[in-house]
Amino acid sequence: EKNGYPHFMLKEIFEQPLVVRRILSTVNKNRDELQIEDIKSIDISWEKIKKVFIVACGTSYHAGYYAKFLWEEELPYFIEVELASQMHHRNLRVPDETLFITISQSGETADVISTLRKVKEKGFKVLSLVNNPQSTVARESDYFINLRAGIEIGVAATKTFMAELVYLGLLKEYVKNKLYKVKIDLDKWNMLPTYLENYLSNIKDQVFETAKKYYQKKNFLYLARGRNFPLALEGALKLKEISYIHAEGIPAGEMKHGPIALLDPETPVFGIAYKDDAYSKMINNLEEAKARRAPIIAIGNEKDKKLENLVDDLIPVPNIDPFYYPYMGVMVLQLFAYYVADLLGREIDQPRNLAKSVTVE
Ligand code: F6R
Repeated sequence: EKNGYPHFMLKEIFEQPLVVRRILSTVNKNRDELQIEDIKSIDISWEKIKKVFIVACGTSYHAGYYAKFLWEEELPYFIEVELASQMHHRNLRVPDETLFITISQSGETADVISTLRKVKEKGFKVLSLVNNPQSTVARESDYFINLRAGIEIGVAATKTFMAELVYLGLLKEYVKNKLYKVKIDLDKWNMLPTYLENYLSNIKDQVFETAKKYYQKKNFLYLARGRNFPLALEGALKLKEISYIHAEGIPAGEMKHGPIALLDPETPVFGIAYKDDAYSKMINNLEEAKARRAPIIAIGNEKDKKLENLVDDLIPVPNIDPFYYPYMGVMVLQLFAYYVADLLGREIDQPRNLAKSVTVE
């Protein structure tokens, strides 16, 4: 049940620290070897793989897209991410040593199932991350990781997205550890649930106040760069699916190639501008938006004076290890969409036209 929350979605947003804690309880170190319960039986020869091909839909696709950036930083693979629905129209030209990864909350998404069957038929191995061990995707994959998020009832995926991000991050650590024998700092991971818990309770009122300022707007542009871009896509998807407000995620560097024409004082920009390697370019992009008098909301670092002066509303992350920022930022994006939808009196747990699992192609 809802445990006193008005909607399952809000309950599931607040469950995220717990989900992360549950996942981390399956992770151990034996001397310097990283062990993850679901991964130990996976007999993939990681050193032989040349390419990793990630396939998913919707929110799960965003998790895969994020993982592409994360993995590419430290793993020696060429990584491709594709929407499962697009796979029908592609001629697969990949090396024999390609590992396919599918990601699916339900494990019943028709396009994911058909991709899985198609690539298996061609002799490729498939590793799947799924929240339902009994599902078709889980049963038919060669290897399977249980997301352990618990049943998700809200149609908008929240805690399963977090579980996907965390598992994909841990899997990267696992492969790095295997390939290069480098030590993995598990303490950093083990702090994550507590940081998320504290962050949620510290930030929720401010996110609500921000939602109150903007919920009557008709269009939102979510801007980010690099690994934050998939998260901008996710923020925009959450907003459109539950509030029915038009929202787009745009790579900030693409603005001047067209979308900047959309900016005006009625079109809020939601930027992700942490102090990371994309920071200075993001600042330039937000300045361009400000010059067009677009209202700007940003997630960025606490006490970042430059950003504070530039934007209308800064939703801060604490100045800790940047490792934590994306996980915190995701919760802000989810909460913002939730509060906007609630202020508009939307259905939230069962938005119009949407089903929890998409079983037709
Ligand atoms: C968005 C959402 C959908 C799903 C998509 C894939 O909140 O829930 O975009 O992410 O339909 O579903 P799964 O992960 O079950 O394959």
